[in-house]
Amino acid sequence: MTAAELGAGTASQAMYQDFRDSVRSGRYENDVAQRHRSGSRLAESPAIDRDQVDIVTTALTLPPTMPLSPDRSVPLSTDRSVPLSPDRSLPAGAQPLPGGLDAWLTTVTPDLIAIRHHLHAHPELSGQEFETAAMVARELAIAGLTPRLLPKGNGVLCDIPGASGGPVVALRADLDALPLPDVKNVPYRSKVPGACHACGHDVHTTILLGVGFALARLAERGLLPGPVRLIFQPSEEAFPSGAPEVIAAGGLTDVSAIFALHCAPQLPVGQIGVRSGPFTASSDVVDVTLRGPGGHTARPHLTADLLHALGRVIVDVPALLDRRVDARTGVSMVWAAVRAGEAANTIPSVAQVRGTVRTLSKELRGELPELVSRLVHEVVAGTGAQAEVNYCLGVPPVVNDRVATAVVESAAAAALGTGQVVEAEISMGGEDFAYYLEEVPGAMLRLGVGVPDATTRLDIHQSTFDIDDRAIGHGVRAMVHTALTALRTCF
Ligand code: NI
Repeated sequence: MTAAELGAGTASQAMYQDFRDSVRSGRYENDVAQRHRSGSRLAESPAIDRDQVDIVTTALTLPPTMPLSPDRSVPLSTDRSVPLSPDRSLPAGAQPLPGGLDAWLTTVTPDLIAIRHHLHAHPELSGQEFETAAMVARELAIAGLTPRLLPKGNGVLCDIPGASGGPVVALRADLDALPLPDVKNVPYRSKVPGACHACGHDVHTTILLGVGFALARLAERGLLPGPVRLIFQPSEEAFPSGAPEVIAAGGLTDVSAIFALHCAPQLPVGQIGVRSGPFTASSDVVDVTLRGPGGHTARPHLTADLLHALGRVIVDVPALLDRRVDARTGVSMVWAAVRAGEAANTIPSVAQVRGTVRTLSKELRGELPELVSRLVHEVVAGTGAQAEVNYCLGVPPVVNDRVATAVVESAAAAALGTGQVVEAEISMGGEDFAYYLEEVPGAMLRLGVGVPDATTRLDIHQSTFDIDDRAIGHGVRAMVHTALTALRTCF
């Protein structure tokens, strides 16, 4: 599908047909999908099972009070039937959104939750987010926006023009799922074997869609002061990851600041975590290969005892690294895989160990490849083994900009109340949002998604990961406030 086909006001039958005829519909046979494939009109369909609807297509997830329409002539963002009076469910201490968005958000939140459930049931792995991107583009086009697909077709950029020009504020979500089984017993459990939205990227995508709908509504009324760009990025979980592709496609052109959120199951729903400075760590991979002649374990003095040498590398290199760098840089070197030898009485000729090196310091990170390589060679010297070090740079650390963090802190307080904003913990995990922050200032916040009083604390990247769906409305509020606050801020 070309960008031109996704133009504003072209909420076309063809676009729907693309989605209905997709591989996905054929892959998940059920009566609703069968109706799609047979060309039945949705409006003529008999009673619709809400549970089925949620996991088949968002074309069916309209508010119950709205008529089902094959071309959805009443898009979420422009539904004039939504009351514009102040929202009764505004969180205590929160600031109202402009343009009657609080009431609008209350009305459409069930639909956003349905979108999230649909995405959760139909995850796509890194680099394969074609149907997810198509759905995002279609929903944005229906809202009157002008999305454009990234060159590979598995990501979306969408500019929302403001009342005046000027620097662009960018908001980023990631689209991909993880190669894990989904073992939850919920109606929206993944229908794709071995794929699961276990990092909450379905939530991020849904929230940014909701933000797009909300900002489109503001723009229609002349209430959006400046331009905002929505970035729906593929391949956050893979390496090489998708952020450099977005940047190469012009995703940061004219952007003055960029913001994102990530699900945080360690925070209860209703809270938001913010932090200035280091937020996540860099993640680089180091491979060490040792070589020697090999030989009999009875005569290690006649060869190079590779396992002895490898053991020294495994134990001594991380310990020495800790003594060669400033502890405040948060360096962490952890081995994860060892391969060496077979027989109990044979010294192998090759031995390998592999792991990650992480740090919170952008400055130190540049020095680590040379330092780690030197330490390996120093430790191996005298063992007779030959060492080869392969150091592969992964994602940089996320370091939140001070002013951008002030923006998200203010926005989070406006969205949910000052008492709901907490200081976020640093994570030693990697996050490719860092690539954007190497180009422009910005900040990532943590969105509380934890179920209150849950007996088991869930973590991301677990097959059981799930969220309290109320976090979706919170995320939309927080990011709309973030965009509006950022547009008033000089970066
Ligand atoms: Ni993630």
